[in-house]
Amino acid sequence: MLDTLQKTFKFSETFLKVEYLENLDTFQIGGPTIVLNAGNHELSIQGHPLRPWNSSIYSAIVIANIQKIVGITLEPDLLFIKSFPYEKTLREKWTHVHELFPLAHLKQTKLWRSAQERIGQIEFNLWYAPAGTHCGIHNQHDFQELHPQIFGRGRMQKFHENDYNSLYQEVFMSPGYTHEPFYDHEGRYPWHQYYADTDCIWLATEFHRMSVAPVGNDSER
Ligand SMILES: [Fe+2]
Repeated sequence: MLDTLQKTFKFSETFLKVEYLENLDTFQIGGPTIVLNAGNHELSIQGHPLRPWNSSIYSAIVIANIQKIVGITLEPDLLFIKSFPYEKTLREKWTHVHELFPLAHLKQTKLWRSAQERIGQIEFNLWYAPAGTHCGIHNQHDFQELHPQIFGRGRMQKFHENDYNSLYQEVFMSPGYTHEPFYDHEGRYPWHQYYADTDCIWLATEFHRMSVAPVGNDSER
């Protein structure tokens, strides 16, 4: 019998709850909830698969045979508006990106990160950026990352060089969507950034060992 775990992440707010569930027989979902499959098996939901490290929004269902999932619930109206009404709350509690990464070009960047939670080799945290924010082109990470979108509309972008004019791919992000890995099988990244079209909140899932990171559709997970 595997140990069950059900914990609410400490960076949750009254308007945004992020819950981690492991080895549960069933989980009942009422109102709209973003479900991220954080296990390494497909999850069957109403007879349809949710692949590992994919996510979607569900309502009025029971999910059975849970290996690992993250459930994210927002105040229902927040799924349908563009302007985030609790920006002040988050900016007061969260850490500005320049305090985390003291690089000159990030000083004026409107980007804040929540506290972090760690489950095994995976770290979870939230990010907030207001509309029109370029979050900064980079190609180095100490980890591999995937991002489920929670609030607003944004884009993950790839570049040939460290230059906005060298854009070559955009992946649009809307609530409930998780992009495919941007890193390759060795964990190397192209130049990339997150761009916020509207006010945006997304969940960062950071894999601190390549062996636990998913590596794309055509690869073993
Ligand atoms: Fe990145």
